[in-house]
Amino acid sequence: MSLSSDAPKRVLCVCLGNICRSPTAQEVFRQHVALAGLQIEVDSAGTAAYHVGESPDKRSQQFAKSRGYNLSHHTGRHLSQQDFYDYDLILAMDTNNLTALKQLQQSLTASEHTAARIALFSEHDPVFVGQDVPDPYYGDAEDFEQVLDQIESSVMAWVDRWQVACKTCSKDEM
Ligand code: 4NP
Repeated sequence: MSLSSDAPKRVLCVCLGNICRSPTAQEVFRQHVALAGLQIEVDSAGTAAYHVGESPDKRSQQFAKSRGYNLSHHTGRHLSQQDFYDYDLILAMDTNNLTALKQLQQSLTASEHTAARIALFSEHDPVFVGQDVPDPYYGDAEDFEQVLDQIESSVMAWVDRWQVACKTCSKDEM
């Protein structure tokens, strides 16, 4: 059984600092989900609290803006236990984030049911499948462009799946 073909209602993108990759993924998702006519909420958070309350990294904002994505409204936040109940799909930008998410989910008491399915952001990507979105924080322009290339590609793959899922589900399920 493949849960990934179901369109989720709330998606959370997670990276380390929540100032580069995941706010970019959030905004790319927001635009493409809206263009596809899907009603899916998307937010982002970081596994570390280094940049809580901060705006996205200036370089991320600049490179995203050149492709038509405005990240300026986001404020960095730390992943919380509540997120595992509030979101039905949590997407890790890399395998370190995925490990951290799985450990956190396991630390929640076994009797509690958390809604969230956890997956790698690139799970269905036709080009970058199974690959990390590399952390660009100590990188250069090329690294920030690479992040955008991968994020756009993976977002389109998810949205394509969700559109198919929504075409086959009832109005109530949407
Ligand atoms: P992000 O990038 O996880 O894509 O937001 C990073 C931002 C900050 C740091 C590391 C990665 N940092 O070490 O402060």
